Amino acid sequence: MKKDWVRKKTEEFSSIGGYQKPELHTDALKLDSNENYVISKQFQQDLITNAKKSCDVREYPLGGVERLINQLSKFLKVDSSMIGVGNGSDQILDLILSNFASKQTKVLTSNPTFGFFEERCKLYSIPVTAIPFSSDMTLDVKEFLKVSKNADILYLDSPNNPTGFQFEKNDLQKLVKSFDGLIIIDEAYGEFGDFSLSNMVKSQENLIVVQTLSKSFGLAGLRLGYFIANNKFTDAFNHVLQYPYPVSTLTIESAILALEQSVQMKDAVKIIKEERKRIIDNLRKYDTFQVFDSKANFVLFDAHGSHKRVYDALVEQGISIRKLGKIGKHDGCLRVTVGTKEMNSKFLLAIRDLLG
Ligand SMILES: Cc1ncc(COP(=O)(O)O)c(C=O)c1O
Repeated sequence: MKKDWVRKKTEEFSSIGGYQKPELHTDALKLDSNENYVISKQFQQDLITNAKKSCDVREYPLGGVERLINQLSKFLKVDSSMIGVGNGSDQILDLILSNFASKQTKVLTSNPTFGFFEERCKLYSIPVTAIPFSSDMTLDVKEFLKVSKNADILYLDSPNNPTGFQFEKNDLQKLVKSFDGLIIIDEAYGEFGDFSLSNMVKSQENLIVVQTLSKSFGLAGLRLGYFIANNKFTDAFNHVLQYPYPVSTLTIESAILALEQSVQMKDAVKIIKEERKRIIDNLRKYDTFQVFDSKANFVLFDAHGSHKRVYDALVEQGISIRKLGKIGKHDGCLRVTVGTKEMNSKFLLAIRDLLG
């Protein structure tokens, strides 16, 4: 019976679980999804209002992606033949995985790694080797170099979500140069970190660097991701793997305007980096917490046995952070997004009231 096959397949999918979104707390201060509130809502609304003026949504956005790629090319100072876009970097990662990997393809990554990527590997039954973080939430490049010969795909988020760790540039370059298969470096948080590997794409034909407007540009809701790779891969991706119209007219026009005004993004990144330091320094005053360094727009800390109490107390105060629980030897991990100065102060005050 063909129906049985459909039922079985559906049950198989349901058993995977899927990507866990954060709990929805209406009206809470949202410090749970690594979004960027430093760029004001008004600024983004004005951007959309202006973008709307050049939209005719009765039409498919013919030529729109090409215009957006040209704007990205100016912003990145990379030839347009090396740039592709997607409906969020999620979709780019998914398309690469679903087309390049199979049950026989071995993926090498870290543990933890970006949750969506991990879930996608499960969905496609792709075997994954994941090198664990050490107890100070750093990775050892030697471990990667040791096992990399057996892997077909290397995926690293640089900086890593949820730890905030970024390899030293030399270490990551060494790893990339030595890896023979497909390399995906996910720089969703790249602007908050110390370096980007995008310049290596010219000399390294197996390297794809994925970036997004979701984090540093504060446009998570727009769903615009992009990548930089060699022109042969890019051409195949853009003309065969990618959908004909992967992003909406409004996304295209808004993204073009956001890229034209990228000074706004750079100012926001500067503030977020300063605020990240303030959060880390403050949380480190409490003996109950072990606070890890971060190169991203969030801070990971282990609240040990009290992580549920801290999380619940913050929710009661109208503050939502991410409860991650066990990561390696750390059993009470919490991750807080760096928000505006005001949001961060509210978070730190709530922590002081609870523990001070
Ligand atoms: C490491 C990493 N990569 C990619 C993404 C997804 O980004 P996008 O909004 O572009 O799909 C995220 C989002 O949280 C992330 O943490």
